[in-house]
Amino acid sequence: MSEKKAQLILEDQTYELPIIVGTENEKAIDIRNLRDETGYITLDSGYKNTGATISTITFLDGEEGILRYRGYPIEQLAEQSTFLEVAYLLIYGKLPTKDELSNFELRIKQNSLIHEDNKKFFDGFPQHAHPMGMLASSICSMSAFFPESLDPNRPPELVDHSIVRLLGKMPTFIAWTYKKRIGEPYVYPRYDLDYISNFLNMMFSTPMEEYHIDPVVVDALDKLMILHADHEQNCSTSTVRLVGSSQANLYAAISSGICALWGPLHGGANQEVIVMLERIKEDGGNIQKWIDKAKDKNDPFRLMGFGHRVYKNFDPRAKIIKAACDKVLSKLGIYDPVLDIAKKLEEVALNDPYFIERKLYPNVDFYSGIILRAIGIPVDKFTVMFAFGRLPGWIAQWKEMRENREPIGRPRQVYMGPTKRDFVPIAKREN
Ligand code: SDX
Repeated sequence: MSEKKAQLILEDQTYELPIIVGTENEKAIDIRNLRDETGYITLDSGYKNTGATISTITFLDGEEGILRYRGYPIEQLAEQSTFLEVAYLLIYGKLPTKDELSNFELRIKQNSLIHEDNKKFFDGFPQHAHPMGMLASSICSMSAFFPESLDPNRPPELVDHSIVRLLGKMPTFIAWTYKKRIGEPYVYPRYDLDYISNFLNMMFSTPMEEYHIDPVVVDALDKLMILHADHEQNCSTSTVRLVGSSQANLYAAISSGICALWGPLHGGANQEVIVMLERIKEDGGNIQKWIDKAKDKNDPFRLMGFGHRVYKNFDPRAKIIKAACDKVLSKLGIYDPVLDIAKKLEEVALNDPYFIERKLYPNVDFYSGIILRAIGIPVDKFTVMFAFGRLPGWIAQWKEMRENREPIGRPRQVYMGPTKRDFVPIAKREN
């Protein structure tokens, strides 16, 4: 709490509202008692100016293009850490010791099998079912297979078991949705492989041939997952918190986050970026034509992977992924023409007044699909990969909300509908 107060003058009365200043000097007017004191609420559709919580997990500075998990810069974590180490940091609030990390990794591996009855779920889906719908259903079904997880108020060690179970089964569910899609047999997790290698093996091995695990691919995917791991109160994380605030179980809350992430304005953008780049390539690669379409208010086309609610400077994750694209593609000996198109789009857009005035820069989704495609991930699984990366962040945010015993989320509204009127029975209504 700051010593300073905000003054609000309403109908000739002056109210003083507390001011909260965060550890990174972000300032908020505390309106938690506003309606009781003044009878007024605030209105802020899209919550563009509204803080939903006080959190210690992730810090973003949109103007400066800064992203830190528990105070550690994303650039250092992407370069020096691993996805499961970052998951531990986000969920438990500190970097693990060597033993803590080994134990965490082992517990996750021990929980990577999914119940054989889950196969009946996959058998029931049509082959063309979108993997995000299959994943959301599969994760929610965990509450059926582990009914004890329905109580989010269980002792911490039991809640922790639900968390580890989720981290263990997520990659298996993702890989099995892929095998269902292509009609190949399911591949099981193995004890001799690390988290990312296990995932790649379950995705790409077949009874005919074992997948060759390339350290370049493992490293690229591990880095990509680190970059997606958390992003403070974005749409899907806010969904997880809101669902969790009703004391619905962890698996239901995460399943709702997967559904929110699915949207093309959010996590679904990574899939839409590749569709857009392919469309531009097929159209002859006329960059200016598509930039003009993105600027045209009468044209529904938007430059997918560009713009951000918070970042009004470069998304630091986009910078790291762009650099990794060149490195991964050259190491894998892959030339992907859409990477050149993406770079040209970025160059033209960042020199165009429309994008400059609106501070529209490439975001995390602009280049990520190029690496995913180089690894062999099909386009319609790109958003599933975003969910895979974001899982530790969702869990950490859900855990923080539960531990802080935050109240059930229930926003207010300004009613603009009809005022009181009497019901007219149908017999008396004019046709
Ligand atoms: C993610 O919140 C997070 O942290 C999300 C995320 C995470 O890690 O969780 O970072 C992941 O979701 C990244 C964003 C992925 N989505 C896209 O790439 C879709 C394309 N981007 C836009 O739809 C848009 O930029 C949003 C949705 C990302 C942000 O929208 P806002 O903050 O509501 O801004 P807005 O739509 O009000 O845009 C402001 C102006 C408008 O023009 P004017 O009305 O002022 O003339 O900028 C324009 C918009 O038309 N604009 C774009 C544009 N994005 C915004 N114009 C063309 N192309 C775009 N991509």
